[in-house]
Amino acid sequence: MGSFFFRGFIVFSLLMLLKGASSSLDKEFYVTWAADHVRFFNGGQELQLALDTNSGSGFASKNKYLFGNINMQIKLVPGDSAGTVTAYYLSSEGSNHDELDFEFLGNKSGEPYVVQTNVYASGKGDREQRIYLWFDPTKDFHSYGVVWTAQHILFMVDSVPIRVFSNHKAAGVAYPDKQAMGVFSSLWNGDNWATQGGLVKIDWSQAPFVASYRNFNVEPMTASSGEGTSGVNSEQWKKLQWVKENFMIYNYCNDKQRYPLPPPECTTDM
Ligand SMILES: *[C@@H]1O[C@H](CO)[C@@H](O)[C@H](O)[C@H]1NC(C)=O
Repeated sequence: MGSFFFRGFIVFSLLMLLKGASSSLDKEFYVTWAADHVRFFNGGQELQLALDTNSGSGFASKNKYLFGNINMQIKLVPGDSAGTVTAYYLSSEGSNHDELDFEFLGNKSGEPYVVQTNVYASGKGDREQRIYLWFDPTKDFHSYGVVWTAQHILFMVDSVPIRVFSNHKAAGVAYPDKQAMGVFSSLWNGDNWATQGGLVKIDWSQAPFVASYRNFNVEPMTASSGEGTSGVNSEQWKKLQWVKENFMIYNYCNDKQRYPLPPPECTTDM
């Protein structure tokens, strides 16, 4: 009995060690922009990007991924973040690239952030959606990421799917299933468009603006993961519906000006 628990304890400790190792950000990521504005701390368990009048900053993963449940925890720029953009995305390289985007658009203190998502497949994007969040993303860390299989891509905020992009290759819509993607983030000045369409500018007296990251986590999946299932369970559909009904402010699928005929993926996706 004792040794059973002891072995269990050893296995548990090893798992925790492995988990710890997998989220050591200074091993998983490298600086892509302005090393003097990027700070690793807590022994590499946490990292911060800064934006000031001199520069924004950014990082990227050393590894690339093809499918997977990929997420990390982010605490967005607090206070007056108007005009700042925290981009967080997966992207492949070269022409005809695939990209899965989260862009967090800052706001005046107390006014809500906007989360814009987009999907590029074989170089084609123009699939913006925008939502408000149901919490203040500057108060605590929350998990943001994708569950990416050969059938669906779910954009996740904590345990809530905010968007699904399904494989519609049969209808001639390119789908990201061939190119491995790296994970990227950057913090920059987007005040020509980000906040209220560019009306609200950055207040540089509030600089430096800082976004914090931790717990990078990748659960590998293969091309056949989730095959034969719809990939999105009824609980997830319910949550997605709740987001669409209560927090959605823009959906390219419903933008008749841009798309008099909705793009084919819009027939099933949300
Ligand atoms: C900022 O706040 C205003 C007023 O509440 C809101 O209309 C806008 O959508 C918010 N977010 C951004 C990014 O502009």
